[in-house]
Amino acid sequence: MVYPIVLVIHNAFRWLVLASLLAVLVSGYSGWLGGRSYRPADQTVRVVATSIAHTQLLIGFYLYAISPIVSYYWHLGAGTDAPEFRFFGLIHIGLMFTSVIIMTVGSSKAKRQTDAKQKFKTTAIYFTIGLILILIAIPWPFSPLATRPWTRTF
Ligand code: HEM
Repeated sequence: MVYPIVLVIHNAFRWLVLASLLAVLVSGYSGWLGGRSYRPADQTVRVVATSIAHTQLLIGFYLYAISPIVSYYWHLGAGTDAPEFRFFGLIHIGLMFTSVIIMTVGSSKAKRQTDAKQKFKTTAIYFTIGLILILIAIPWPFSPLATRPWTRTF
């Protein structure tokens, strides 16, 4: 069955998303506050992190289409009072989608800018907002919205 496999991949991919966002923020803030020149590595880190986020988005869309939890939410709708169904049916997808759009806009805006300080600043601000939304929307084991394990195995 494909569902548990996609779930394991989506779970693990979250760590890649977070690690790459952390790298973008280190590059963005150190460049912005340190006043250094914009290097090819800064561009690479930004583009790679955006692509990783897009990939997770695609995996998420696929998971959304096959998840029994989401399907249950859409069939029962307001009939279910378990907050977890609403979380995966609406909140998770809404926040994650918004976050990735914000980071994509920030990345292309930074790409078009010519001033190094501006590029770093744009990257730092857009990706900070994106990361905050992602941190809220991840079903951490301690999240008040919905809880899922730190890692999963096949
Ligand atoms: C950067 C973006 C995203 C991150 C970091 C992320 C992270 C996660 C994590 C950690 C889980 C828990 C997995 C588990 O149960 O082990 C999860 C579940 C889920 N995600 Fe995402 N997600 C992202 C984007 C999306 C998007 C855009 C969608 C929908 C289009 C989505 C749909 C789902 C669904 C449906 C589940 C629950 C599946 C189930 O339990 O049946 N995710 N996500």
